[in-house]
Amino acid sequence: MPNRAVIQSIGMAVADRVMTNDEFEAIIDTTDEWIQTRTGIKERRIAEPGQSSSYFGIRAAKEALERAGKSPEEVEMVVCATVTGDYLFPGTACLIQDAIGAKNAGAYDLGAACAGFIYAAEAAAGMICNGTVQNAVVVGIDTLTHFVDWKDRSTCVLFGDGGGAVFMERQKDTERGIVATVMLADGSGARHIKIALGGSLNPPHSARGEAACGYIYMAGKEVFRFAVRAMADSCSRVLEKAGLTSDDVALFCPHQANLRIITAAADHLGLSMDRVFVNVHKYGNMGAGSIPVALYEAEQQGKLKRGDLVMTVGFGAGLVWGANLIRW
Ligand code: ACO
Repeated sequence: MPNRAVIQSIGMAVADRVMTNDEFEAIIDTTDEWIQTRTGIKERRIAEPGQSSSYFGIRAAKEALERAGKSPEEVEMVVCATVTGDYLFPGTACLIQDAIGAKNAGAYDLGAACAGFIYAAEAAAGMICNGTVQNAVVVGIDTLTHFVDWKDRSTCVLFGDGGGAVFMERQKDTERGIVATVMLADGSGARHIKIALGGSLNPPHSARGEAACGYIYMAGKEVFRFAVRAMADSCSRVLEKAGLTSDDVALFCPHQANLRIITAAADHLGLSMDRVFVNVHKYGNMGAGSIPVALYEAEQQGKLKRGDLVMTVGFGAGLVWGANLIRW
């Protein structure tokens, strides 16, 4: 039997501060009813100033290691999926690696927005299966609310802060682990979701930087249409790649951006909602953090058990999209 990259444990960390839809009514022209009907979101978690992505990533990674019964010295790689790293550089993975005491690990960031955890899980699984490393901590974390314009009602209600981490390691003679992955991109849609300021095109403290917007820009309608297509496309492809059908899937664990996108994807796949995990009502869109938090809560609630086939799917800025089939 070939090597498999098996998820042995999971941790999560979200911001403590709960912000309800009612609170938005005081700052923008919106209603709880509009937000719930259009997105399914009831409340989200908001990081305090200074609570950066590493702040949550460190907590989630520590919990994953504790639950796996592993010491930090045993970790060989830390991969952090994020588009809201603490700095342009150094990488947030390095900050996490240091804080958890993973003295013998490499560490790097991977930016694939809300599909980040899908990409990072596959990147780590590849290194694990081909023998480069024995194990990895894979973190998916974002603090998108630090970048929202609180006056822009079409984006500020959508996001929340937090994420999760898994401890993944090589095993032989097991059905468990990452079964199949698809990762796709269409950079022609890059303009639809972005933060224009801060990179090398529009650096801070430059004339171009002064003219660029430092808030999240999103063309909601375009992204919505793309998201529905992308969810269906990546799920169909990953199932076909594995020679499986949606009947084989015990739990569908999608990126939590919008309940309408999730139900459209479930419909397309012919999955009844009792096989679909949803927590977007509590957290909003946590970027790369949404999928690991959903996996964590699904496991805690007994909806995801060892040996179950779970399908994760994500989409986001890039544009990027993808799916993992995981034997839990
Ligand atoms: N409250 C009240 N009205 C609002 C609000 C609000 N919070 N936000 C927008 N509106 C208004 C708009 O201004 C518009 O008014 P108009 O017709 O007078 O111009 C009207 O509501 C309808 O707006 P739409 O954009 O058509 O609303 P839609 O039904 O498309 O829902 C939403 C908007 C929720 C943003 C949706 O398009 C969506 O979910 N898009 C996908 C977002 C997503 O999944 N992003 C993931 C990637 S993020 C990443 O990668 C970091």
